[in-house]
Amino acid sequence: MPLEVEKIRKDFPILSTVTNGKPLVYLDSAATSQKPRQVINAVSKHYRKNNANIHRGIYKLAEDATAQYIKSKETVARFVGAESYRNVVYFRSTTEAINAVARAWGDANVGKGDRVLITEMEHHSNIVPWQMLAKRKGAVLDYAKLADGKFINREDFAAKLAMRPKIVAFAHVSNVLGTINNAAEMTKLAHEAGATVLIDGAQAVPHMPINLSEIGADFYAFSGHKMLGPSGIGVLYGQEEILDAMEPFHGGGDMIRSVDFQESTWNELPWKFEAGTQNIEGAIGLMAAVKYLKKLGMENVREHEKTLTSYALDKLGEAGVTVYGPDKTEIDRRAGVIAFSMKDAHAHDIAQILDSEGVAIRSGHHCAMPLVTKILNEPAVPRMSFYIYNTHAEIDTAVAALGKVKEVLRISS
Ligand code: ALA
Repeated sequence: MPLEVEKIRKDFPILSTVTNGKPLVYLDSAATSQKPRQVINAVSKHYRKNNANIHRGIYKLAEDATAQYIKSKETVARFVGAESYRNVVYFRSTTEAINAVARAWGDANVGKGDRVLITEMEHHSNIVPWQMLAKRKGAVLDYAKLADGKFINREDFAAKLAMRPKIVAFAHVSNVLGTINNAAEMTKLAHEAGATVLIDGAQAVPHMPINLSEIGADFYAFSGHKMLGPSGIGVLYGQEEILDAMEPFHGGGDMIRSVDFQESTWNELPWKFEAGTQNIEGAIGLMAAVKYLKKLGMENVREHEKTLTSYALDKLGEAGVTVYGPDKTEIDRRAGVIAFSMKDAHAHDIAQILDSEGVAIRSGHHCAMPLVTKILNEPAVPRMSFYIYNTHAEIDTAVAALGKVKEVLRISS
């Protein structure tokens, strides 16, 4: 069923604002999504009526807050096909979730000379924690290469798996190329090679149906703020036996069963990983965001973004812009993220001129410096990204603004 975009737009107060005197055209949802009033109201209502710390008070207000927090996890678990709320750990972000695995799982399972395998299309959040682990433990960090600068090279992936990495970590969807990796197949191959698998799902969960029981990864991480929810809440899904065997990442209140002067024992899942007062309002907001997306239907969300992306690829092609990542014939493997370049125009100049026309896009290395500077061979690239509230007309406005870029920077067609 097509999304009723005009109706959806009315739920997002920011979309009726102006920027630089022009109606806001927000094409940077891969960086962070806008928030509907349902999420804003849920967070506000929590503060106005339900605020109390969780897992501590024995009064009704605190018990209700605890119940809502658990309900948030149950809602998230059902949304991504996780077994139970026990498999859902809340951290600050995808980044913190990956750091938790690299530390808590990595330190116990990766040793000197062991291999860690990631890919050339990773975000810094799925590179740097593994570099740090490799340095701490004397392990070797390998990268699966890309084919044609857009897909993971299957032969190279197989060759790197043959070196028996302890862990394989990869993005479900690239935040620069928009490439959708075949997460289930890559997980299966990595498992056959004896590796544990972590998937960075930050750009996937907000945009397409995800069923973790089909994908089969050991760990899967994603962020609330990219899927209509608040910032400061991220999800680490983990398989129960792995989470059970893992040491905690943070120590403090609530993650313990008992504490003595020298020793402590750990709480049950998932609380063992959540030390200190949590982002309770973030969990409430995330639950509202998930309910909003479920109501739209993730198949419909994906279809909408596919249609917009195909349209944008056509229009950008007509405008003579170089686009990175899968092309229109490969749209089934491409999400609504389009990084591009225009002859000698600097990415920041392009983004600034678009901004003067009310069009917000991101420009830079997109926290994926190895991919942008070594594979795309650019110091920086502009990127537009789409979500449930974007329209064809907004893409027309953005492409028309690229015409202004050509005029101002005197780029010949
Ligand atoms: N990871 C986010 C992006 O790609 C911030 O823009």
